[in-house]
Amino acid sequence: MSLVRFRPGPLLIFYIGRKPSNNYISYLKFVIHSSKKTHVNHTQLNNYIEGTFEPELMFEIARRNNISINYKSIDELKKAYSFNNLQEFLDIYYAGASVLLQVQDFYELTWAYLTKVHEQNLIHTEIFFDPQTHTDRGLSFDTVIQGIRSALDDGKEKLGISSKLIMCFLRHLDEAAAFETLNQALPYKNWIAGVGLDSSELGHPPSKFQRVFSKARDEGFITVAHAGEEGPAEYVWEAINLLNVSRIDHGNRSLDDKQLIKYLIETQIPLTVCPLSNLELKVVNDLKDHPLLKLMEAGLVVTINSDDPAYFGGYMNENYTQIASALNLTKKHITQLAKNSFKASFLDDREKEKLIHQVDTYYQKN
Ligand code: ADE
Repeated sequence: MSLVRFRPGPLLIFYIGRKPSNNYISYLKFVIHSSKKTHVNHTQLNNYIEGTFEPELMFEIARRNNISINYKSIDELKKAYSFNNLQEFLDIYYAGASVLLQVQDFYELTWAYLTKVHEQNLIHTEIFFDPQTHTDRGLSFDTVIQGIRSALDDGKEKLGISSKLIMCFLRHLDEAAAFETLNQALPYKNWIAGVGLDSSELGHPPSKFQRVFSKARDEGFITVAHAGEEGPAEYVWEAINLLNVSRIDHGNRSLDDKQLIKYLIETQIPLTVCPLSNLELKVVNDLKDHPLLKLMEAGLVVTINSDDPAYFGGYMNENYTQIASALNLTKKHITQLAKNSFKASFLDDREKEKLIHQVDTYYQKN
């Protein structure tokens, strides 16, 4: 990337050319699909490295590792990507990840993601990974993290993409397994910014992991958690009060609880919202019904993210264009989302301020 470009959040556009229309979507589409001189730069905060596993790469790695996939072809696999809920997705997602065996596999997975999002002008990413998905199959923690980490280092050096890693505990497993994973992670503490909580939400409240999160915080990790994706608003309260999270992943169901909304506005605890994921997992039936705008207009810090882009039909640009179109978002909304993404990130305060200032300047000029 050239140094003269803007480097803002999920929607800072370095605009050269036509004047934007009032409805942001035509402007956004123009920018994304036009000349190489125009750019949309992003940062994103809710993205699984295992969820970026494109079928083509999955088949290639499976063949190399002599593992057979339950689907005869890439097309057949893609056809299976039709989900009625989170659990149906997770079953296929964990099966897909099971072809990853070597450091090189994790490297290629991560590198493929970075080159893909580089084309979408992503400049910073805070990536989730699920070590238990791999250590439960007999892989070492070291294999997983070495592969991911060396690709992230190359991403910084060769593509200019900065990153932070967030290690998630699988909430369908027990507390002892989470403690074991935390202990495995300690020698790699300098490579991992935070811990999170994910997988099957219903029936697995944040309270189940209160003690392990407390230890993680004592060890210096930032904490985040999935809550209110399918689970109730009560789980969002638990994530805040018992796990001391800095961000809520998803959090859609917060809208069911007025007190919670008030609290999220007061504290400015951000939500990492994932529109296409919500659509594909039937959290919403139509993007037009998505609560993003309601949450924003209420004054919450909402950000746009892609979650598991290889499974949900889109990376950041696709999430932006589709939600902007469905909710008729204006340039002002998009600019706010860009600023929110920096505010909610784990970048240092100076970097955040600089990027937010760039967004403001850009907005005023365009
Ligand atoms: N693991 C990968 N994607 C997830 C999601 N959207 N919710 C919970 N766990 C996940």
